[in-house]
Amino acid sequence: MTNPRILGTGIAEGLLLKPVTYPWALDLYNQAVANTWFPHEVQLGEDLADFARLTDEERHAVTHLMSYFNPNELLVNKALAFGVYPYVNAAECHLYLAKQMWEEANHCMAFEYVLETFPIDRKAAYASHITVPSMAAKEEFEVKFIRRMTEQTLDINTVEGKRDFVRNLVAYNVILEGIWFYSGFMVALSFRQRNLLRNFASLIDWIVRDESLHLNFGINLILTVLEENPEVASDEFAEEIRSMVLDAVEMEEAYNRDLLPNGILGLNADYINQYVKYLADRRLEELGFEPEYGVTNPAKWMATANDTLQLVNFFESINTSYEVDARSSH
Ligand SMILES: [Fe+2]
Ligand SMILES: [Fe+2]
Repeated sequence: MTNPRILGTGIAEGLLLKPVTYPWALDLYNQAVANTWFPHEVQLGEDLADFARLTDEERHAVTHLMSYFNPNELLVNKALAFGVYPYVNAAECHLYLAKQMWEEANHCMAFEYVLETFPIDRKAAYASHITVPSMAAKEEFEVKFIRRMTEQTLDINTVEGKRDFVRNLVAYNVILEGIWFYSGFMVALSFRQRNLLRNFASLIDWIVRDESLHLNFGINLILTVLEENPEVASDEFAEEIRSMVLDAVEMEEAYNRDLLPNGILGLNADYINQYVKYLADRRLEELGFEPEYGVTNPAKWMATANDTLQLVNFFESINTSYEVDARSSH
């Protein structure tokens, strides 16, 4: 069955779309195009009165999220440009990646809109990804995977080259986009649960909708590479991938303690970190591993927020009706 096609570096290959070999990629491209949105469709200024009413700790949390999201949206694009696009040959995958890269640019601009609308010190917010150790650690974890692909020779025709490709996808798609971003989205959307920052939440809804497709694409890509290149998936490599996810949970726990040192109404670092573990288990299962933590989703209302965007199938496959009930009790 091994007839590798999705990976390759031939410039003259993958120039014709039909026949489509990976229909899931074209389907995701079409969904992504249908999801197109622009930040200024939301009247963020209407949230200013809410922002003024936030406590110092709540404002710190919003600022901390912006500090993390802004550089990391663009870091994802570097990972796609240096670590994914050059090694994929299928035209339908290139179409999708081109749209994803625009979406990451659009997310960056959405967060810039937040920074220019809310009274947040941009300079201070920008500095934190370097000066806050728990945030810097997450970035360094990611950057080392891009360096593997740009500063060392990656030969995608070798088993080790293919493993580097998968490592990069796990670091960016599964960990950064599929766990760390979701942890931040949940905190950002929690304000709406208390009827605060509703327009900000609408921006986040749209970003979540995009990110769910990014994750869907990344997981499909990883699974396709593993299926077409069975020599890649040794026991040792599987253990390494699993450890990456577990390390990512630890880094996120430290980060969330800095995000909410004292907690805010209905939310503290333990609550967020239980959600992180819940997410990590889902990501492990999607990669074919057993779950590690076995915790329940403490933020079932997150699935409800996603319901309206029809994301439930991918992220939250269990008990939608129960989650609707959970939300109405808030
Ligand atoms: Fe993004
Ligand atoms: Fe993304």
